[in-house]
Amino acid sequence: MSIWTTIALVAALAAILAFVAGRLLSLYRASPQLDPAHQAPEDAPSDANEPEQEEVPSQTETVVWDDDGWWLPDGIPVLVAPSSDMDADPSAQRVREHVRAAIDDPNVDLPAFPLAAQRALELMQNEDVDYGRLAEIVGEDQALAAGVLRLAHSAAYARMFKIDRLDLAFARLGHSTVRLVLIAKSLKQITTSTPAGGRDIGAELWSGAIVSGVLLKHMSPHYDLPKDEAFLVGLLHDIGKLAILRVLDDYHRAHGGTLSPVMFDWLCDECHEEFGLRLAHAWNLQEPLPDLIGDHHQPTTPKNRLSRYRLLLQFSDVVAAMTGYTPYVPYDFFNLPCVQELNIKNTPETRRWLAGLPALIAEKAGDF
Ligand SMILES: [Fe+2]
Ligand SMILES: [Fe+2]
Repeated sequence: MSIWTTIALVAALAAILAFVAGRLLSLYRASPQLDPAHQAPEDAPSDANEPEQEEVPSQTETVVWDDDGWWLPDGIPVLVAPSSDMDADPSAQRVREHVRAAIDDPNVDLPAFPLAAQRALELMQNEDVDYGRLAEIVGEDQALAAGVLRLAHSAAYARMFKIDRLDLAFARLGHSTVRLVLIAKSLKQITTSTPAGGRDIGAELWSGAIVSGVLLKHMSPHYDLPKDEAFLVGLLHDIGKLAILRVLDDYHRAHGGTLSPVMFDWLCDECHEEFGLRLAHAWNLQEPLPDLIGDHHQPTTPKNRLSRYRLLLQFSDVVAAMTGYTPYVPYDFFNLPCVQELNIKNTPETRRWLAGLPALIAEKAGDF
């Protein structure tokens, strides 16, 4: 072999190596640019029966909309959602006094989980629960049973055989996921069956809850938080709004008039955390849920676990509003304190990740 042939072969080999390295680098860059200090912990709790899935959309699946991404505000950008002011309205003051009194009233009629879900969750406090007995209880509530079977047939389990028995669905999903789906389906029943005037506030509350649950679970590994707990924190963080909706509905039944969405928002701004804490205790929720339900809108830095949860909750509210799941707010996205504290930078990789979020939320939320 001549010296020129050898040089040509070495050059060709170098070109091939450079191409392969470039491909590997581009695949690595398809991950969201979150805080690199927060890598997914290898021991992050997740359901052992849940098949591993690619949660971050890959570069080839996602179109980057740099000009009209949902994170670009449609209107004058704001850092805080506008709030209504009803301080000067005497009838609003009367309703506010009624709601504030209800927070401390031991006899107030609070939203409650469906009976079958309550009994099932009690039974599930035992890790070695009998799935046959659990199926009898869950089977008494058609909506709950349908929710469990639906998740067992969702995209995550699409390659597995069809099942139509609850005990088999429980075995497929595993203890932790069954508990989550019972809580999520119960919350959906309570929110969407709560009457409201004008705007469908119950449906909005459910949308906000499931978007937060899905997003917190999706982002939790990057912030060293356990997935299942993160899902519950997202799902339940605004239950105070549900309590306010119930109290307002009862008030109007007793005193006449119809529920005003503007007044609902005004009362939520003022006391949904406080009322949520009351409901968290009534539902016997475990820490960190009561802490976060009672105090998730405070400015914070990601110095500890609860602070990271608060930032993710604020971030999920922003995503829910800007993607149309809750009333639209033209947030100044990349300048929001929660976005900056979470170290989410305005880079092509981040925008690619953001562009994929609506599809991810729609798919995961659709399981419930
Ligand atoms: Fe909230
Ligand atoms: Fe919220």
